[in-house]
Amino acid sequence: MGLINRYREYLPVSANTKIITLNEGDTPLIPAVHISSLIGKGIKVYFKYEGLNPTGSFKDRGMTMAITKAAEKGMKAVMCASTGNTSASASAYAARAGMKSVVIIPEGKIALGKLAQAMMHNALVIEIEGNFDDALNTVKEVTSQYPIELVNSINPYRIEGQKTAAFEIVDALGDAPTYHSLPVGNAGNITAYWKGYTEYRDNKKARSVPKMIGFQAEGSCPIVAGRVFEKPETVATAIRIGNPASWKQAEAARDESFGLIDSVTDDEILSAFKLLAATEGVFCEPASAASVAGILKKKDMFKSGDVIVCTLTGHGLKDPDNAIKMSDRTYKVSNSLSEIVKIIGV
Ligand code: F0G
Repeated sequence: MGLINRYREYLPVSANTKIITLNEGDTPLIPAVHISSLIGKGIKVYFKYEGLNPTGSFKDRGMTMAITKAAEKGMKAVMCASTGNTSASASAYAARAGMKSVVIIPEGKIALGKLAQAMMHNALVIEIEGNFDDALNTVKEVTSQYPIELVNSINPYRIEGQKTAAFEIVDALGDAPTYHSLPVGNAGNITAYWKGYTEYRDNKKARSVPKMIGFQAEGSCPIVAGRVFEKPETVATAIRIGNPASWKQAEAARDESFGLIDSVTDDEILSAFKLLAATEGVFCEPASAASVAGILKKKDMFKSGDVIVCTLTGHGLKDPDNAIKMSDRTYKVSNSLSEIVKIIGV
């Protein structure tokens, strides 16, 4: 039914609002059997697998709201800066609403699947020499001067839509988890989850709120380091951001929840990325795996009885290049029984 209809009473829509939806949300909360055993102490880890949204990432939650409200206002075009997923989602929802979309992306730093999505959804795709932060500044400037709606997460409707992931988790578990772990890039999602968890507690739908634990990539960790990164770098291109727009809100979520924001290295991200696919059967993109790399790094912090939810923000198929680069079990031989049997090792 889509998340606006499901959580209508918590969202800024009226009976007259025409909803633009692709039936996003309602993603599975998957028990992480192998990761739970690695953390030990009887701790239960779950994945909130956001890769199963219509365009393959959590951005669809925010975009159904942002595009619905843009359409309600009579806007004919939307624009965003993106490391890839926002552009895929914005262009899909804009197409559905019959609007134009313009996306500004950092040249050469977008995972292939995401670029293909924006192109197929008929976005005007503009690659710039510069990073995400430069692109966002340009988008702010253009949208302040022309009748084009900005649909990055500084658009408050994006946060409203994204907060519903926290509602779904509480609805599935019966209460909030002890910890919620997620990757942090522009910091909209950690802001949204915290808003969702606190609203649900205030409405007596949950007895507690989780400690919010966010992870940035070491080469792009402005919140951890306490300074802007002029040249952010990481293999996890989705979170290659040096000056997050929701920096203050992310710090507030961390502090109000008694959580933390830390960094993980590219090696830690890639090994979690591979571990998830190889042992849990869950294929997410590298940035998503930062949430799991983070809890593995911090595993001594957790206590018996804790419940940890990790958001897997995007689908692995978005970034086939990094996946294929990781492969060390692929062989090319002539179609010969003896050679194949030798490789199998039987
Ligand atoms: N994971 C993925 C897969 C993402 O695409 C993003 C952000 C994040 C995590 C971080 O979320 O920015 O709310 O802290 N992607 C944005 C984009 C920046 O343009 O697609 P955040």
